[in-house]
Amino acid sequence: MCGIIGVVGDADPLTTLLAGLTRLEYRGYDSAGVALVRPGEMWRARTAEGTESVSALKLACADAPTDARSGIGHTRWATHGAPEAVNAHPHVDCSGTVAIIHNGIIENHRELADDLRARGHVFTSVTDSEVLAHLVEEGRRAGLELLEALRATIQAVRGAFAVAVMDATEPDVIVAARRVSPLVVGVAPGVTYLASDVPAILDRARVFYAVNDDEIVRLAPEGFRAVDLDGAPVRLRQLSIDWDLETAEKGGHDDFMIKEILEEPGAVRATLLDRRRLDGTIAFDEMRVDDDELRAVRRVVLVAAGTSHHAAQVAKYAIERWARLSVEVDIASEYRYRDPIVEIGTLVIGVSQSGETIDTIQAVREAHGRGARVVAVTNVVDSSLAREADAVVYTRAGLEISVASTKAFVAQVAALELLALRLAQLRGTLEPDEVDALVRGLGALPALVERTLARRAQVEEVATALVGARDFFFLGRHVGFPTALEGALKFKEITYRHAEGYPAGELKHGPLALIEPGVVVVAIATDPTLREKLLSNLAEVKARGATVVAIVSDDDEVTEAVADYLVRVPVTEPMFTPVVDVIPLQLLAYATARLLGRNVDRPRNLAKTVTVE
Ligand code: F6R
Repeated sequence: MCGIIGVVGDADPLTTLLAGLTRLEYRGYDSAGVALVRPGEMWRARTAEGTESVSALKLACADAPTDARSGIGHTRWATHGAPEAVNAHPHVDCSGTVAIIHNGIIENHRELADDLRARGHVFTSVTDSEVLAHLVEEGRRAGLELLEALRATIQAVRGAFAVAVMDATEPDVIVAARRVSPLVVGVAPGVTYLASDVPAILDRARVFYAVNDDEIVRLAPEGFRAVDLDGAPVRLRQLSIDWDLETAEKGGHDDFMIKEILEEPGAVRATLLDRRRLDGTIAFDEMRVDDDELRAVRRVVLVAAGTSHHAAQVAKYAIERWARLSVEVDIASEYRYRDPIVEIGTLVIGVSQSGETIDTIQAVREAHGRGARVVAVTNVVDSSLAREADAVVYTRAGLEISVASTKAFVAQVAALELLALRLAQLRGTLEPDEVDALVRGLGALPALVERTLARRAQVEEVATALVGARDFFFLGRHVGFPTALEGALKFKEITYRHAEGYPAGELKHGPLALIEPGVVVVAIATDPTLREKLLSNLAEVKARGATVVAIVSDDDEVTEAVADYLVRVPVTEPMFTPVVDVIPLQLLAYATARLLGRNVDRPRNLAKTVTVE
């Protein structure tokens, strides 16, 4: 899991690479490096300073050559080999002439390295990636052009990669290829770029292109050409990009996380925008599955990871209730390894903010291979998941940079609930006026989210009072359960405090043993139909000394009796409560993390987009 960037024909490649690496840090930041090339000479600098790696790299580049016109850069999230400078990219071949950067995992690297060592190659790192440099070196020694040497290399490797290669004997050329890991190419007059994503080169390139699996590109200052695995020329698809750099900046806030939380009303609004035709039919972006196929769906399987998995769990309640379809929600990394059953009429919905999470992509591939129709719910246009699917529902939350996902979650819930209503419409399981009322209810959410955000101060008070606590349980029932899971995930990932989410009724089956004075229980208590039962669960933890924080609706007059702290949110239709109730939970995690002095945007050990299994 890493970010890669490259440029040819630039008057100041180092500045371009360092600026791009800063924007790519969300993909990993435990080490960083660049290589610059001038005729006959490869210059390289690498640092491993944790979250400060890119800053340290800037200092390490003080004596970089100023006459180079091309270079490659890398920010790393370690998989094979410790996060040390020796394992940082770029890696070079035995002669130091060829340099490579790589995002992904080469699964057969051990056998390849054994063969290469037997042929005299000397390895200087313990990464899986270094084999790529030596394989390209072999091709060059055999007289192959750089593009052909890379093509031969990727024919030999198994796994996932976005790889870029430079050779000091061809200073104005970079070759690159991908399989599974993302790669885009950007073009401006006289300069050509590559990167893991568009924002890394958004302020430099004018036109962007997506590289598909098993395509190899050759970049030169005047442009690029691409071939497939067999060497046949291919045309890359131009991407439609409507972001400006402003959207990738913090917009005046202390960090991206709070900026993104405050953007939630807009994220939900944009996701719901323009989704109904004049006749009331709910419509999506790229629905290449026709209505008859959707009507014939007999079973739905949602696959996702992390926060997206929690949004998928909310969708289970909505699809079952409204469309009367049986729904399973699977952890994406588990799906393909358990011989899943895909029958005629199975619809698989892959949910992923980035659209690049390898676990989710592989799960969706598995389902596709077994004959399922696949819908992607993703935030990134033209992402790998979007391209993999038969149909796409875009969440339109805008670029999310903070590692902890926030606005993507509320947008996912809105999109998935809309999809549930579409299935209900097609199956006739709801009357048209019921669908109308629910769509209106969804439409009211952005204003409710705004009102909830305006009450930020009440959550900050709770955070200040409880900042010393070390153990947190988040409880909920019905859709409050996935909301509780999401609250616990947000809390643990940015505060580093122990936090667990549970269905409130499950506590008595074991975890209650952990409840003692000092433990904090955060309860999602906004569903009036389940309030009585939840109150009993809260009484159980209160009796054992826990401190209770209850998220309650404005009309709740009873929960106060068992809670130490109340956080009030506007009254919302129960199925829509996750969109509103998650906000105080995100703010609680955020405020606590800030009080503890954590790096909220870049929590330790994590990366924004997980492109390794
Ligand atoms: C948590 C978080 C992760 C992601 C997960 C899936 O705040 O951000 O748990 O939700 O890695 O990522 P996507 O949605 O991009 O597939």
